[in-house]
Parts: sequence; C-alpha cells; structure tokens
Amino acid sequence: MALPLIPISLVIILFIAYKLYRRLRFKLPPGPRPWPIVGNLYNIKPVRFRCFAEWAEAYGPVISVWFGSTLNVIVSNSELAKEVLKVHDQQLADRHRNRSTARFSRDGKDLIWADYGPHYVKVRKLCTLELFSLKRLASLRPIREDEVTAMVESIFQDCTHPDNSGKSLLVKKYVGAVSFNHITRLAFGKRFVNSEGVMDEQGLEFKAIGANGLKLGASLAMAEHIPWLRWMFPLEEEAFAKHGARRDRLTRVIMEEHTQARLKSGGAKQHFVDALFTLQQEYDLSEDTIIGLLWDMITAGMDTIAISVEWGMAELIKNPRVQQKAQEELDRVIGFERIVTEADFSILPYLQCVAKEALRLHPPTPLMLPHRANADVKIGGYDIPKESNVHVNVWAIAHDPAVWKNPFEFRPERFLEEDVDMKGHDFRLLPFGAGRRVCPGAQLGINLVTSMLAHLLHHFVWTPPEGMKAEEIDMSENPGLVTYMRTPLQAVATPRLPSHLNKRVAVDI
Ligand code: HEM
Repeated sequence: MALPLIPISLVIILFIAYKLYRRLRFKLPPGPRPWPIVGNLYNIKPVRFRCFAEWAEAYGPVISVWFGSTLNVIVSNSELAKEVLKVHDQQLADRHRNRSTARFSRDGKDLIWADYGPHYVKVRKLCTLELFSLKRLASLRPIREDEVTAMVESIFQDCTHPDNSGKSLLVKKYVGAVSFNHITRLAFGKRFVNSEGVMDEQGLEFKAIGANGLKLGASLAMAEHIPWLRWMFPLEEEAFAKHGARRDRLTRVIMEEHTQARLKSGGAKQHFVDALFTLQQEYDLSEDTIIGLLWDMITAGMDTIAISVEWGMAELIKNPRVQQKAQEELDRVIGFERIVTEADFSILPYLQCVAKEALRLHPPTPLMLPHRANADVKIGGYDIPKESNVHVNVWAIAHDPAVWKNPFEFRPERFLEEDVDMKGHDFRLLPFGAGRRVCPGAQLGINLVTSMLAHLLHHFVWTPPEGMKAEEIDMSENPGLVTYMRTPLQAVATPRLPSHLNKRVAVDI
C-alpha cells in the first residue's frame, strides 16, 4: 500500500524544492507574506486595483503577489510602467492564458490571448494597417453618429414622457445600448436591435453566448492558480466545447450572410467581418483566427466604452461647474441650431479635456491586461522570473500625488495647462496601455467616448435624482477585470435643445 506513496512524495518534495530554489535564487519584489499553497489569494480584496495600490503604499511601487503558486508583479508608478512597457516591452509581451481563455481563444489563435511571436505580429499588423486605420475609422463614423443620436432620441423620449416627469433615468441603459449596437455593427455589420428596441433572434443568441462565456469563465476553481491541484478540478470540457461550437455556428451564419451580400453587390463593406474575409489570403488567416478576432473586438470594445461614459457622467453630475463649462463651450461653438459631430472635436478643447479627465480618474481596465514574462528581466532592481505575470496599475499611476496635483479632483483644466498624451506616449496616463500591446482601438474609443459625452451634455442638463445630493452618488467600483460603478448611476435629464434636434440620424451601413 505504502509503495506507490514513495514516488508521489518524491515528486512533491522535488517540486517544492524547485519552487523554493526559484524563490531564493531571485531577488523578488517585496509584498505581503504568502501562505503555503494559496499564496496571497485570500488576502486580496475584491476591488483588486485598490488593494494593490494600498499594498504599494506599504511595500513600495513594485510588489510581488502570489496567486497560488504563480508570481504576479504589480508596478504602480510611471517610471516602472516605462520599464515594463518600453524598456522590457518585448520580453514582457506574452499573455497568461488560464484554461478558460485558452479554450476561448483556441490557445491564442486570436489577438488578445496570443503570445508575442510571428502570429501576434501578423494579426497586430492587420489591426494597425487595416481594421483600425484612419481611413476605416472615418468610413465607420456614420455608425457611431447613428448610435449616439439614437441614444439622444431615446433619452429625450423617456425624459419628456408625461409619466416620467422629474424621474431619474438609469444612465447605463442608454450608454450600454450605444456600446452594444456600435460594436456589433462594427464587427458583424449587424444591428440586432430594431428601431422599437426589440432584439432579433440572432441578437438574443449573441447575448446568450456572451452570458454563457462569462459563466464558464467564472466557474474556474481556485485550483486554476495551483497547477498541481488541477487534476482534482477537471474542466467541464463538454460545456466549453459546446460553447465554442455555438459561438462558431452563429459567427459562420453571419459570415455567410456577408459573403452572399458581397456576391450580390460585387463590393465589400467596411465592417470587420468583410475586411477580414477580403484580407484572408493576403494575411493567411485561419477561420479560428477570423472568429477569434471578431469576438476579441466584442470583448474589448463593448464594456470599456459604456464604463468610461458612465463614470464621466457621474463626475459631471458631482461637479456642476465642469458640466456648465463644457455646455458653455458647446453652446458657443455649436449653438442651438445643429448637433455636434466628430468633425467639431478639434474646436472643442474643453470637451476633449473632460473625456481625458474621465479616463484618467476611472480607467475602465485599471490593471490593463496582465502581461507575461517570456524571459527573466529586472524591473526596479528586482528580478522578474520568466513566466511571471506583470500588471501595471494604471489607476494608481493616474492617482499618484507625485505626478498629479490634487489627483482625486475632477479638474479637466489640468490638461489645458499641460497637454498629456493618453495613447501610450506619456507613462503618467495609460488608460489604453502602451508599447507593443497598446490598445489598437484607442482612437476609436476616444472618438466614441468623446462623442457620447458631447451629445449628453449638449442635449441635456444632468442632475442627481430628486432628494439625492451630488455628493451622495456612490463612486465605488464593482470588482472585476473591467470596472463598472458599483451602484449604477441614476440621473435626471432635462432637455436643452429644440425638440427636432433630438432625432436619430439613422444610416444603413
Ligand atoms: C475607452 C475605451 C477603451 C479602453 C480604455 C481600452 C483599454 C485597453 C487596454 C488597457 C488594453 C490592454 C493593453 C495591454 O495589454 O497592455 C486593451 C487591449 C485591447 N483593446 Fe482596448 N480599450 C478601449 C476600447 C477598445 C475598442 C473600442 C476596441 C475594439 C473595437 C479595443 C480593442 C482592444 C484589443 C483587440 C486589445 C488587445 C490588444 C493586444 O493584446 O495586443 N479596445 N484595451
């Protein structure tokens, strides 16, 4: 009976000895003391970026946090962010895939979950030169303007409805609809929701697939962080396979519809699904990669937009001085006889600063996406062994009193006084990350967030719900990789432009 225990014990002893050797060989960054096996998993508070920022105050700007037996390094100042995202960019450009993201991405055949290598370089080039080129951004602008004006129309209808007089609206409902319709039109060339707000069958299937993906992702046991325990928690292979097949089926149907439409019209449209088809040969793209890329855009480009605008609106309601100043600029430049368009942004400097300040105070992905080391590197004088995960706490950096005056204050004027880039060139402000893995949708994101804020401010005055003071708005965050407001924002909208300007400008592209 005891005989088989001997080799098993030997393996465990050797494994622990190897782990100890690795820990002792390297001069790792300081951090909270890890427990055996689970590391710091039970010490981490749900809103991780705040917890890591607190630990950085105690242990310094680069810390070690053990998720089970995996080392995670978190950097929290702009100098170290530069070391991670510029100096050692290439060695820190891999991704950690857990069993769920590995299944979803077919082991990194997409962009988000791909390691840095020839496949990544190829699809990244495709994103830069084709999907997110300035030309395509411009040709897809009518979709953005259609969706933003549809939002205005829907808010106008709801807030002027006699039953709703003085009642507050759930801001997330309206900004979420723009994000959803925009991204499905951009990626799939489909608006699943009709003008009455009813979702079609494909849309319901699309939503169900998204919800199921989240459920499967969340079902991973803690053992995910302790590889040698995984055998006790086998993955629900069948559920993952079913999910993948369902996602592929819907995507193939949509792709086929586009193929038929191209054959009929003889030309390709600008949506990503058409672009990917047209470029399939040139870039040697497998079907897994095309499907993976389409779903990457949905994953990365939907919540981020809605989150940024909801937080921006919360700040504008808490700070009526800023709201009024932005409205004065809109009135002066645009007036009361037309609506704002993206072409106006360059003559609306304060509006641009409002959007930037919202993204500084509330980056929707406050820890970016973790990068994984493909070699041993040194950050801030400490060793970061190969295969560690590295996070940049962009929220902490954007709130660092060493680089920002009154960092917690919502004061867009700071960017009139000093123009700080937010697309990865200035390491004090990194809502989109920086370096090789910087967000490819940054300009698109900025345009849509700015446009939504512009319309919300030009068309309506925003105040807290009756009986609530602005300072009572709950500004705490929901836990998660992306940071929604813990209490969804409620606000009263009062129209400020003539009724005929609150109409959707629908386009059929
Ligand atoms: C306010 C809006 C947005 C913010 C704040 C944002 C932020 C980010 C951040 C922080 C990353 C991770 C960078 C890193 O790992 O170093 C990222 C990656 C990514 N984003 Fe965005 N994003 C936004 C909108 C979008 C949109 C609209 C799209 C596409 C339609 C998009 C597509 C992507 C993709 C594909 C990646 C993965 C890049 C890679 O791994 O190489 N994002 N984004």
